[in-house]
Amino acid sequence: MALIRVEGERSRKLLTSAGFSVVNKGMGIKMANLLEVNNLKKYFPVRSGLLGLTRSWVRAVDRVSFTMAPGETLGLVGESGCGKTTVGRSILRLIEPTGGEVFFQGVELTALSKRRMRALRPKMQVVSQDPYSSLNPRMVVLDLVGEGLSEHGLARTAQEKKDLVVEVLERVGLSADFLYRYPHEFSGGQRQRIAIARAIALKPELLVCDEAVSALDVSIQAQIINLLMELRQESKMAYLFIAHDLAVVKHISHRVAVMYLGQIVELAPTAELFARPLHPYTKALLAAIPVPDPEYKRERLILSGEVGAETIPGQGCRFAGRCPQAGEECRRSEPPSVCVGQDHEVKCFYAG
Ligand SMILES: Nc1ncnc2c1ncn2[C@@H]1O[C@H](COP(=O)(O)OP(=O)(O)OP(=O)(O)O)[C@@H](O)[C@H]1O
Ligand SMILES: [Mg+2]
Repeated sequence: MALIRVEGERSRKLLTSAGFSVVNKGMGIKMANLLEVNNLKKYFPVRSGLLGLTRSWVRAVDRVSFTMAPGETLGLVGESGCGKTTVGRSILRLIEPTGGEVFFQGVELTALSKRRMRALRPKMQVVSQDPYSSLNPRMVVLDLVGEGLSEHGLARTAQEKKDLVVEVLERVGLSADFLYRYPHEFSGGQRQRIAIARAIALKPELLVCDEAVSALDVSIQAQIINLLMELRQESKMAYLFIAHDLAVVKHISHRVAVMYLGQIVELAPTAELFARPLHPYTKALLAAIPVPDPEYKRERLILSGEVGAETIPGQGCRFAGRCPQAGEECRRSEPPSVCVGQDHEVKCFYAG
């Protein structure tokens, strides 16, 4: 939550009229966030033995906090298994979080009943990596894209649904000729366009793109990224953009959060993160991106060791076992997340 101190009633009025909301009667005001995630946790039980008793917990997401402004694209990066998908799905309550709070336009999602959550569902949608598995193979495009429209009362008649679907298809660069075709009749890129059409038909304000372009060829990836950027321009949608590929994330995101074993270890505006990475893990991730300019020399950090939620140490920094900089302190206690510049947070004792 961004807190700004203002002096005087006039400034307060000016800022509130510009979309900020007053937190209390004093001088503090709260930026009108689209999303506010506080201390989000998702622990999965690990069962073993004949009776399937829970022996331990996989702390897949552990005390994750961040905010997103309306229309903002936040990139979420990190190695496979670090919890990116679990963050996305817990925020939307597609899986139930173990703890923490999620506010969407000021409404606490984590406290909503299933029925009220369902009513809010159109405002937050997901596009995932493999549209082949998320699109029902037995449904034609008209029903795939229009399903939510009928379900949420956005289209009352068959004709209304058809008109809206054609309009959305055109927005994602597909023709009305495709209305009665099945998913298997399309290429990977076209299927991803159908998945995007299905999501944006409901006019969401938050789109979670979970590896939405990762499975596509590079040229098709670029087309889908461009489409997402055009859509964002038109409708001011916010994206939580989950991806492995840092080059793609850099291109599309306003800010980037780096995750390591269930936690955000660094979060900064994109240009700042790429120019001044402070966490040793972020440095290692950036060092792994190929550089086109051979003159440019960059410190190279090679990470060794396996990752996985089961390798989380009992105490200390989760990265300590692989960190070239780790000292005694890092193995003893967990570093807090500290602000080291404008909007730049890092969770490391040595990154001040
Ligand atoms: N339903 C589940 N039951 C048990 N463990 C799970 C479940 N879903 C995820 N996990 C575990 O939680 C951790 C985080 O998984 P998650 O899929 O969120 O990672 P990710 O960062 O999205 O990985 P990837 O980049 O491969 O998609 C992993 O250790 C995974 O094994
Ligand atoms: Mg994932």
